[in-house]
Amino acid sequence: MELRGVRKSYGAFKVPEDISLSVYPGELIIIRGRSGVGKTILLNIMGLIDRPDKGRTLFDGVDVTNLEGIPSTKTHKNPLPQKLLTTLES
Ligand SMILES: Nc1ncnc2c1ncn2[C@@H]1O[C@H](COP(=O)(O)OP(=O)(O)OP(=O)(O)O)[C@@H](O)[C@H]1O
Ligand SMILES: [Mg+2]
Repeated sequence: MELRGVRKSYGAFKVPEDISLSVYPGELIIIRGRSGVGKTILLNIMGLIDRPDKGRTLFDGVDVTNLEGIPSTKTHKNPLPQKLLTTLES
């Protein structure tokens, strides 16, 4: 999965810089930063729970930035209904 030049803001809050990164199958990455810097926003964009204001999200080379079904970005926390799985099943 890949992020290209992703930007996001909520009111006065802005993710501090454009984010570009690639994560390959089997790779483990760590996202670090002080509380409130935007880590969860980034994870939500990577997990297609949220949309960036600017930039693209690609999965397996396919642009999935505006995939239908992603909730509006202006509401707080949008849980997606899904079957409960154990960590291993997931
Ligand atoms: N869906 C949303 N609607 C409105 N504001 C939001 C939303 N998501 C995040 N924010 C705001 O964006 C800012 C960054 O939030 P985020 O949760 O990404 O930080 P974080 O780095 O994950 O912090 P922590 O380490 O405390 O988990 C916060 O001020 C938060 O209130
Ligand atoms: Mg968080």
